[in-house]
Amino acid sequence: MSFTHQQNVDSTEALSPGTDFHIANSAVVGPVNSQSSLQDAKILMVDDEMINLDLLTNYLKAGGYHDLATTTDSTQVLQLVRMRRPDLVLLDLMMPGMDGFNILEQIRSDEELKDIPVIILTASHHREAKLLALDLGVDEFLAKPVDPSELLLRLRNTLTARAAHDQLSNYSARLEQEVQQRTSQLEAARLEAMYCLARAAEFRDDDTGHHVVRVGRYVAIIATALGFDSQRVDLLEQAAQLHDVGKIGIPDSILLKPGKLAESEFDLMKQHCSFGKHIILPLTDNELDGSNRGVHAGGLVGSPIMETAAVIAETHHERWDGTGYPFGFKGEQIPIEGRITAVADVYDALSSPRPYKPAYSEEQCLSILEEGRGSHFDPLVLDAFLANMEEVRAIQREFADAALPVDA
Ligand SMILES: [Fe+2]
Repeated sequence: MSFTHQQNVDSTEALSPGTDFHIANSAVVGPVNSQSSLQDAKILMVDDEMINLDLLTNYLKAGGYHDLATTTDSTQVLQLVRMRRPDLVLLDLMMPGMDGFNILEQIRSDEELKDIPVIILTASHHREAKLLALDLGVDEFLAKPVDPSELLLRLRNTLTARAAHDQLSNYSARLEQEVQQRTSQLEAARLEAMYCLARAAEFRDDDTGHHVVRVGRYVAIIATALGFDSQRVDLLEQAAQLHDVGKIGIPDSILLKPGKLAESEFDLMKQHCSFGKHIILPLTDNELDGSNRGVHAGGLVGSPIMETAAVIAETHHERWDGTGYPFGFKGEQIPIEGRITAVADVYDALSSPRPYKPAYSEEQCLSILEEGRGSHFDPLVLDAFLANMEEVRAIQREFADAALPVDA
């Protein structure tokens, strides 16, 4: 046997010498999708009789096909298919070395080759042979001796079906890519909107916005230590940034008051929890009118992240012993999201400079947290925080605030 090319042989055709393999033209690559490109299809013909291959080549050339390759060596077929990626294989069944059934089975079991159409050419009229080939996934049969008109029609139909299949696959891959792109754009916009909202609330007494970021990070540290999965940890980190969004509803005279708040002022301050919940959560049907339905249409309100943010906004001032606000919930009555944020929020308030106090040292902060063990804080949540002080310090360094003058 000899390795022979007719023309336009590319590098992928460097088969081992001795392969009886012919190529008529290899200029066209890619799926076929019109009458002219149907005829540009790459076709591989396999038969152990050279005379049969010559006949097939003549028939196909007469039908306008020009990118043709042939081989009489069935043992080389799979290697050829992998290299040339034909658009269709015309395959003899009974051949020495490797028979057509075996080749078909291997093509269909290869993830990258399995969609290549195969037309079986056979002189056999045995029903079992046909059933076996059908079972292995053959596309068409042609009886030998081949009728050239039938050959061209079956070839055209098979290639057309393949082109439709390719177009559908490409379309669905493109759609999937577009959906993924839009989804990540929406996700980015959603997170940005959340962060803007959180910053809006903080801006009046912390124009760096670092407080909300640090609280979110501390919440993530605690949630991770408590064994939450990474998806839930991410959600909690984002949601916790909105814990004080209700401060938007508190007058400056109270929010920015340097000294101690009067009881009535503190009562109003406490309302930032329910203000926060109502800013975040969807309005009821009774509250909805034509002007605010767009809020729901946006899909942001009522999502898991916003539900969690509402829970945190409403319960981050509850205390483990039931002396917190707004409900006076006790122990595990307080949602875990609120218990976690309570530790994170208090630690950040203690360790950051405020208009009325300097930043406390870590030792002072930890001592105050310990004092609150079992009274203010859930002991397990506190332990989860304290066990990860290295990470806490890294966040403090990364998102440090400038020192503020202490207001006497
Ligand atoms: Fe708060």
